[in-house]
Parts: sequence; C-alpha cells; structure tokens
Amino acid sequence: TEKLNLLYEGKAKRIYRTNEESVLLVSYKNSATAFNGGKKAEIEGKGRLNNEISSLLFEKLAEKGIESHFIKKLSETEQLVKEVTIVPLEVVVRNIMAGSLSKRLGIEEGTPLQKPIVEFYYKDDALGDPLITEDHIDVLEAATKEQVQELKTAALKVNDVLISHFKQCGIRLVDFKLEFGLTSEGKLLLADEISPDTCRLWDEETNEKFDKDVFRRDIGSLTDAYSVILNRLGGEAACT
Ligand code: C5P
Repeated sequence: TEKLNLLYEGKAKRIYRTNEESVLLVSYKNSATAFNGGKKAEIEGKGRLNNEISSLLFEKLAEKGIESHFIKKLSETEQLVKEVTIVPLEVVVRNIMAGSLSKRLGIEEGTPLQKPIVEFYYKDDALGDPLITEDHIDVLEAATKEQVQELKTAALKVNDVLISHFKQCGIRLVDFKLEFGLTSEGKLLLADEISPDTCRLWDEETNEKFDKDVFRRDIGSLTDAYSVILNRLGGEAACT
C-alpha cells in the first residue's frame, strides 16, 4: 500500500489517502493536547504507544465480533483503516464516576456507577464539544434515531469486551470515548482510536492512573503510564 496525499490533520493523528480505494492510512503523532487544545506538548514515543495500543484493542474487539475501521498495523506509528465519514458525535461510556461527570454532578471521582452510562457529545471544537441529548442530536441531524440506538448498543458491547479484557491485565476501565463513521454503503463502523488518550485506565489495586489524566493533571510521565498499558496488554513497550 502506498501513502498518498494528506487528507486531514487532527490534534493526535494525520490521515492520508492511499493507492487503494476506500483505504486510508492513519499516522499517530507525538502531540499531546488537553482542554480542547488549551494545553499542548510534544511527547517522544506517544504516537508509537497509541498506535500499538489502539491496534491491539481493535484486534481484540474484532476477535469478539465487533467490527471497526481497523484493517492492520502498518508500522510503529501507522495503521491502515477503512474510509468512513465520521458521525459528529463523541460517544462516552462510563463505569466509574470521574472527570467531567464527577464535576457536573458533584459526586466524588472513583464512585462506582450501578450501570454503565452512555453520553453523547457534539463534535465541534468551536463549541467545546458540548454534552447533548437525543433531541439535540435530532435537531442537529447528527444521526437518526435508529443510528443513536445502534451507537448505544455498540458502545455498550465495546464496554463489555474492554472491561473484561482490561480486568485480565489488572486494569479498571473507568470511562472512554468512541467515535463511529459511516461507510459508503451507509453502515455504522467503530472508528478513530481506542487508547490511553481516549480512556481512563486505573490500576485495579492502587488506582494509579495510566491514561491522559497523567498529562492533564501533571501527575507523572505520560510515556511511562502508556507503556504500562501496552506491557499489560501484551505488547512490547519501548525502553526509550
Ligand atoms: O472529560 P470527560 O470526563 O467527559 O471524559 C470522559 C472520557 O472520554 C475520558 O476517558 C476522556 O479521556 C474521553 N474523552 C476523549 N476525548 C474528548 C473528551 C473526552 O477521549 N474530546
């Protein structure tokens, strides 16, 4: 597969067209951003860690019957994916109270939830990705009612698989964000990435954080934290 022109550059990834139809190349960058771009850093090794972790997780999901845009890992920092049109929604699943929900509801971080919560945020940087309701999704025409149900069901399925997979590695899946896209045939497909940038991952025993909160809250080395996740998932973390 040949890498052709740059299609899109986001905060953490670049997306290139390839010589194969409907196949795109995702290149993971070393940039770390938080607070909607308000905090930024270049962190050597981050792109590789997220590419490896995301590839392993998409492979695990495929093994469990959950399809995604992921085709295969190409190199340390690159993967091939199926082309989709991203649905402008961030689908967040929460198992344990943390982050923005903890703030919004005034409930202490770490409080377990009786059942997983699914939330939708509107993907719009200028608006700061606001939390929205299903009626808002209707008004915005961001997805149909049927698609919203499909997104919820798919997100909860992903949650089941990831909870048990991370549990085997001694990690608690606190919450995470998913994105979905539509193929040219109109099929909804899990897309984007699943990595410590998009999940909260805590040590089962100590509650130590191995995710982007380390960067957001300045509480340690991001690459050390992400390497722990890659190691525990069975990958080879860098010793650089
Ligand atoms: O900040 P908040 O608590 O709403 O985040 C919930 C989950 O979604 C966290 O795991 C966070 O890393 C992820 N998230 C993300 N991208 C965003 C917002 C949240 O990956 N733009």
